[in-house]
Amino acid sequence: MNWQEKIAPAVATLPPSGIRKFFDLAATMEGVISLGVGEPDFSAPQRVIETCVRSLEDGRTSYTANAGLAELRQEIAAMLQRKYGAVYDWQSEIIITVGVSEAIDLAMRAILTPGDEVLIPDPAYVAYPAAVTLAGGTPVLVPTYFKDDFRLTVAALERVVTPRTKALLIGFPNNPTGTIMGREELLAVAEFAKAHDLIVISDEIYGELTYTGTHTSMAALPGMKERTILLNGFSKAHAMTGLRVGYFCAPAEVAAMMNKIHQYAILCAGVTGQYGAITALRECDADVEAMKAEYNRRRQYIYRAMCDMGLPVFEPQGAFYIFPDIRVTGLDDTAFAEQLLQEEKVAVVPGSAFGEQGRGHVRCSYATGMEQLQEALRRMAAFVARHRA
Ligand SMILES: Cc1ncc(COP(=O)(O)O)c(C=O)c1O
Repeated sequence: MNWQEKIAPAVATLPPSGIRKFFDLAATMEGVISLGVGEPDFSAPQRVIETCVRSLEDGRTSYTANAGLAELRQEIAAMLQRKYGAVYDWQSEIIITVGVSEAIDLAMRAILTPGDEVLIPDPAYVAYPAAVTLAGGTPVLVPTYFKDDFRLTVAALERVVTPRTKALLIGFPNNPTGTIMGREELLAVAEFAKAHDLIVISDEIYGELTYTGTHTSMAALPGMKERTILLNGFSKAHAMTGLRVGYFCAPAEVAAMMNKIHQYAILCAGVTGQYGAITALRECDADVEAMKAEYNRRRQYIYRAMCDMGLPVFEPQGAFYIFPDIRVTGLDDTAFAEQLLQEEKVAVVPGSAFGEQGRGHVRCSYATGMEQLQEALRRMAAFVARHRA
């Protein structure tokens, strides 16, 4: 069989994730401290674990409704209203997915036809452009800049919007930069979306992890619910990455279409994780607060450490990443990451893995225990000092 001829061109030409490449290399080496991973170093809250274990012991191992457990959807609706002022009908507008990852794919497949363009702020989470391409659309990257702390501006959006633009796919608090968008800034983006009649897909998976102010949900802005597909999940704030529970909220017309793909492709999210997620929402606010306080402590520490190294960097306000400019070392981001790994056994991700605007930066995650973080930063400081000289 000549597989090269058989594989769909859109898949064959898709570049592999630049993040994974680095993990794979780091995994072959001894004594590496990884600031590369985008997942919490904590386990899920103990009560979530107990609920999952109990649900298995009670023999709850069957499918759920395609849309997910009713109780979970009800809890999500209540939480979104309470925390963000976003009002959704749990029966027709909320569907449980296998992480936000599935929800991104469903959204793209439900709305795109060939020739449709989707605006994505650059740098971006690696799955966004890939999901657009796989659904037959064209990703159009919208530059964001270090001078603006990588916030998305309407001026940049206006430069790239065309009559073929169908949607805007954003993720704030942001991976990889740690940027948050304030209410005023989001309002401006919302007005832009309305003016151009765009769908907004808003990935708010890091919404709980903001360290200054509170998160504003795109879906709660005036007039935005009708054109927004809101994505969120339990992987980050609740440290439940491996349980694979996420959800989307959308107007009933589009939710039903996304649910059709979900029915055929996935059937339903795993039942064990769904039970865990109910407990996460009902009983685990204090656990989330404690993890968040610890991330905040590390955030302040890592920001100071990077400043002390002489790396230009802005203070991240959300998620658990920091995105310094490393060009003072005379290295580009890929060489920096490769040599830092070889010479000091610290893994970071080259910024260019997230888009052109990430070039010259590296993404460091502080979802790593404080001692490990301190040691990694000592090694990195030595590396930077050596290469600057
Ligand atoms: C911005 C963003 N969206 C979505 C995901 C995937 O989340 P999930 O585990 O819910 O699929 C990640 C994971 O790193 C992420 O950073």
